[in-house]
Amino acid sequence: MKDGHGLLRDKVVLVTGGASGIGRAAAVLFAREGARAVAIADVDERGKDVAGQVEEAGAAALFLRCDVSRAREVEAMVGEVAARFGRLDGAFNNAGIEGATARTADYEEEDWDRVIAINLKGVWLCMKYELRQMLAQGGGAIVNTGSVAGMVGWRGAPAYTAAKQGVAALTRTAALEYARAGIRVNAVCPGVVRTPMVERVLGGDPELAARFSRLEPLGRFAEPEEVAAAAAWLLSDASSFVTGHCLVVDGGLTVQ
Ligand SMILES: NC(=O)c1ccc[n+]([C@@H]2O[C@H](COP(=O)([O-])OP(=O)(O)OC[C@H]3O[C@@H](n4cnc5c(N)ncnc54)[C@H](O)[C@@H]3O)[C@@H](O)[C@H]2O)c1
Repeated sequence: MKDGHGLLRDKVVLVTGGASGIGRAAAVLFAREGARAVAIADVDERGKDVAGQVEEAGAAALFLRCDVSRAREVEAMVGEVAARFGRLDGAFNNAGIEGATARTADYEEEDWDRVIAINLKGVWLCMKYELRQMLAQGGGAIVNTGSVAGMVGWRGAPAYTAAKQGVAALTRTAALEYARAGIRVNAVCPGVVRTPMVERVLGGDPELAARFSRLEPLGRFAEPEEVAAAAAWLLSDASSFVTGHCLVVDGGLTVQ
């Protein structure tokens, strides 16, 4: 453990979408917070580099290639974590895509299906197999990545907003279903975070970047580590009475 507060001391944790952005920052932060092992699941092989950073931060690391929209891959991924490390204390279901930008009447069915498959079905599939493991071992904590776009409307993102509102619903439902089994289920809902996803959306347009920054009362984008810190707290025993909560990490964006 390096420079952390030991929030996740000795825990075995899993991060999906751990090859980039928020997931990458989370994998490294979880190791700094004392996790015994961090599994990184992603379709992007750069997750292997993140595994190296996790080891440097003092935890055992495992990169698993997994498409979260495919049930068989998700089942195998959770099974491998349990086989390698003996249990799964915390899961951060964070993998997601931005999808196409188009208004509702212009949105293509193919784009809709892909966004829903990864951002909504993917979160459910991960929870399904993580919950089975956590039930078998007698407890655990899950954090899903929602979005402020899952709390309000967002022009040009009908599938993304529908998926993220769905993530909030899944979070609340699973929290109720498994509270008595010692499993807490929460979500983080970020505002605009400086990640490759946002860079893609901005497309190198400085005016658009300035407009996004102005949306944020704090006057800047979040750094991925600021979202990872919220996820670490929700996965830790420090939040032991928090479940079914969607924690907004948006610099005040949605309260204006
Ligand atoms: N960046 C933001 O401003 C912002 C705001 C709100 C919510 N979010 C959410 O945060 C999460 C992380 O986003 P990010 O900004 O770090 O983006 P990112 O593109 O940097 O990282 C996303 C990661 O998910 C992986 N991924 C994509 N599809 C996958 C699949 N089918 N199976 C497994 N892995 C897959 C990608 O390979 C990538 O490594 C997403 O759920 C996103 O919707 C981001």
